[in-house]
Amino acid sequence: MESSSMSKPIIASKTSSESLEKYKDEISGLPHGNGWSPSQHLCLHKGFWFYPHFLQGVLHARDHFKAKPNDVFICSSMKTGCTWIKSLCFLIATRTQFDDSTSPLRTTVPHDCIPFLEYGEYYTEAGPKTPLFASHLPYTCLPESVIDLGCKIVYLCRDPKDTYVSMWHFFRKVVATIAPGQEDLFVPIEEGFGLFCKGMSSYGPYWEHVLGYWKASLERPNKILFFKYEDLKKETEACVRKLAEFLECPFSIEEEREGTVQNIIKFCSFESLSNLEVNKTGKQVKRDKFVENNIYFRKGKVGDWRNYLSAEMGERLDNIIEEKLSGSGMTFKN
Ligand code: A3P
Repeated sequence: MESSSMSKPIIASKTSSESLEKYKDEISGLPHGNGWSPSQHLCLHKGFWFYPHFLQGVLHARDHFKAKPNDVFICSSMKTGCTWIKSLCFLIATRTQFDDSTSPLRTTVPHDCIPFLEYGEYYTEAGPKTPLFASHLPYTCLPESVIDLGCKIVYLCRDPKDTYVSMWHFFRKVVATIAPGQEDLFVPIEEGFGLFCKGMSSYGPYWEHVLGYWKASLERPNKILFFKYEDLKKETEACVRKLAEFLECPFSIEEEREGTVQNIIKFCSFESLSNLEVNKTGKQVKRDKFVENNIYFRKGKVGDWRNYLSAEMGERLDNIIEEKLSGSGMTFKN
């Protein structure tokens, strides 16, 4: 089973690769740094590191994307659980349109249910009632119209140690798929950790990403809903109710009685989503190669970093992060 762009049920328009490639010259003029594999370097744009293929969409969105006031953006740095929160938001927002058995999430990888800004995926005029968009963009890199119009934003972050470990596994698998034979050249986990600690990761520095949305959420609490993956795990029901209120479709008394909240949570759980046929065996096209959808579902656990990083490494990253976040009111400490 393949979940290519043809099967996207919601996205109406995708920017052509020619339109995105127009940005190659601008990107090649940016400062460069080592990526996590020899075939991929990182480019510095507005203080953040990007892989060039994502940056094309970022620059295209900067120049062409015009948000509408009721658009909602689901933002996150990579590997913080956006597959999960996207699924929750999608199911909450579309629950009157589809029921459990007809939801596109049954047959489509969650990432294809919501347009992704960096791929130049936009709605046409007749978008859904709650137009959801997804992006990994840092707050200060979002298209101007998103901020100017005061669009709502849901932000998800995650403990940096688990985020790093998840990201390392993800990119190693991507490299093995799109550049077979190069996986041995992929950065070893200790070396990649050093780069992550220096801020050199896709959409990094990670702490700057978190801080940008954190500060914005303090300034505009009605517009930016800030979550941590660990809280979403611990207090899923409360978070889901908050999400529904934020998306302006709170659960009715009848829905509460019928167990709609619990059904949504169950449907979007790691066990349930990762066992759907489309997510187990389906594939997506990424840079002309098929990547297995199961790449988005690894373990879905809190604290898995302990299986890959030493206690000293964990402490080192914690210290860096807490120092960077100090004075902001945001912390990853329990
Ligand atoms: P691990 O690699 O630690 O298992 P993203 O969705 O932003 O790409 O992040 C991927 C991480 O979220 C992976 O973490 C993945 O397993 C986890 N994940 C995916 N779906 C999930 C779900 N429904 N519930 C909890 N975690 C999930």
